[in-house]
Amino acid sequence: MSLATSYEVNRVRGPFNATFFGLMGPYIEWNVRHHKRRVFAGLPGAVVEIGSGVGANLRYLRPGSTLVAIEPNTAMHRRLRSAADRRGVRLDLRDSTAEQTGLPDRSADSVISSLVLCTVSNPAEVLTEVRRILRPGGTFRFVEHVAAPAGTFTRGLQRALRRPWAWTFEGCSCERDLAKALRAAGFTDVELTPYRLHSPFITFNTQIAGVAHA
Ligand SMILES: C[S@@+](CC[C@H](N)C(=O)[O-])C[C@H]1O[C@@H](n2cnc3c(N)ncnc32)[C@H](O)[C@@H]1O
Repeated sequence: MSLATSYEVNRVRGPFNATFFGLMGPYIEWNVRHHKRRVFAGLPGAVVEIGSGVGANLRYLRPGSTLVAIEPNTAMHRRLRSAADRRGVRLDLRDSTAEQTGLPDRSADSVISSLVLCTVSNPAEVLTEVRRILRPGGTFRFVEHVAAPAGTFTRGLQRALRRPWAWTFEGCSCERDLAKALRAAGFTDVELTPYRLHSPFITFNTQIAGVAHA
């Protein structure tokens, strides 16, 4: 299914990012695995994921589950399809965007994302869309990287590197206060934990993981 959106696949960076996340996925996963295990525990048999990439989160779904994957970068699709086949997950792959998924109101029990709200053009709009498609009582489970506290070395580096980082990773910003955006989005409750990784990718180390309840 295809929706008219403002997302355009870049001929160079689209495939570059698919290769990058294919190669670096296991390293990123190793760093965030404890947080993902906690927030993705007990997912239902049908899940919507925004920005699925090459399938980093398929391992948190039970074989036989269905994943509605919203992934506008079509360069990711081949790897995502193979990963879903390997994991025994039924894939309903859509090239729409998280801002405009095209899914019906109140149709999902669970929406998940990892490292996506940093990249979408408008996180508030995406969170409104997530709330729209969640059933009352449904959950949005997330693992995201966020801005470091003001005045810290990490925050300075996030500012200094913002342009090359955004260029390389297709609009990704390390300067977003996503905890604030999540709390302002109108969920009935937001539980989140801030933490710090110790990877060499310093600008990416300040993160949050949690569950927002519709
Ligand atoms: C940093 S990657 C993370 C991929 C995957 N979730 C992971 O954890 O490896 C960001 C993903 O968000 C996707 N993306 C970018 N803009 C988007 C949008 N507006 N709606 C949905 N996905 C988007 C990108 O194509 C990419 O797959």
